[in-house]
Amino acid sequence: MKYHIKSTTLAARGQARMEWAEREMPVLRLIRQRFQKTKPLKDIRIACCLHVTTETGNLMLALRAGGARITLCASNPLSTQDDVAAALVVRHKIPVFAIKGEDSKTYYRHIHSALDSKPQMTMDDGADVVSLLHKEHPAEAARLIGGTEETTTGVVRLRAMEKDGVLKYPIIAVNDALTKHLFDNRYGTGQSTLDGILRCTNVLFSGKVLVVAGYGWCGRGLASRGRGLGARVVVTEIDPLRALEAVMDGFEVLPMAQAARVGDIFVTVTGDVNVIDAAHFRLFKDGAILANSGHFNSEINIPALHKVAVRHRIVRDFVEEFTMPGGRKIYLLGEGRLINLAAAEGHPASVMDMSFANQAVSAEYMALHGKSLQPKVYPVPEILDKEVARLKLKAMGISIDKLTPEQEKYLTSWQEGT
Ligand code: ADE
Repeated sequence: MKYHIKSTTLAARGQARMEWAEREMPVLRLIRQRFQKTKPLKDIRIACCLHVTTETGNLMLALRAGGARITLCASNPLSTQDDVAAALVVRHKIPVFAIKGEDSKTYYRHIHSALDSKPQMTMDDGADVVSLLHKEHPAEAARLIGGTEETTTGVVRLRAMEKDGVLKYPIIAVNDALTKHLFDNRYGTGQSTLDGILRCTNVLFSGKVLVVAGYGWCGRGLASRGRGLGARVVVTEIDPLRALEAVMDGFEVLPMAQAARVGDIFVTVTGDVNVIDAAHFRLFKDGAILANSGHFNSEINIPALHKVAVRHRIVRDFVEEFTMPGGRKIYLLGEGRLINLAAAEGHPASVMDMSFANQAVSAEYMALHGKSLQPKVYPVPEILDKEVARLKLKAMGISIDKLTPEQEKYLTSWQEGT
């Protein structure tokens, strides 16, 4: 079996941490147990390009239980947990190509290694596998059964491919399931982003001005959790509706050019490029901290930061100090890569439970129906989304009410008024 990981000696630690995460993933556990019996993915080769974490490790075991032949590579050069990669290789004989801190060339070599497995399905987080497959092997891409995509950025890229008429096989936008983005993007990113910043800086949030760029589900979660830690939160937006929502949620809304002058900690979660740009570096206070929690490291113009700085040094793990002309210091966290996975462990298992339950049932759906679908981006079927919510509530020991026949009738009639 071919693989490329940091060290096989880390396997015991990775296995123990995967078991710790598994305790918080009851929905995925139920799916794994069902897959074990029904084998819905029997002998299907799946190239998975995901953040290699304890939670992903458990997803791999569920797919494997379903009969899949998996190859796993990293979906970001800085997000791999090397001990999990080792556990998957040594204990579970799953080929993994991922090393934390790999350079860009190695990152793409690892994606190529996953594609070398001649996948029949893909499972992506950010659409790098899909994009590479379409660019380099378009004829092969047309033969795939289907795929799934985990994240907002990946779904945006896939929709662009669909619009340009180049997408060659059907892909389910797992991100768009309600049981995914309402929880993972909001509560997961909200908590894990702060976790990443706290672990690498140990700054006190209380009393600080936290600037959140982007008020999508990730931004909403981050702003609310930042407020919970006592920060004064400023939101920047380009969308009037979202900006209005941020205002009505009680946050100050400013253009970045004004926020830059008042913020202590800045986090980008927009999915777009150069949200913090060269012009803003002149405006930051001495000691401003910059982090990104969006998928790509292009939300902060890092090349421009290097260009303008007169001095650059690393002051702590994942903290780079840039000295500006005149002596002000700006701090960049985690090389501008997603800070929750670079400096912490990503979203907690309990929330990834729902995201990865959606991944597993979507893979099962694709295995069954992919061949009869057009090469388009599809939602997770509502019935599966609702089932994930139902199972999660059950696992949490929470019961809910049922409509009475009278209420059901009322909801489907139009005659009754006041
Ligand atoms: N994305 C965000 N957090 C994650 C995690 N813990 N595992 C895999 N992907 C993630």
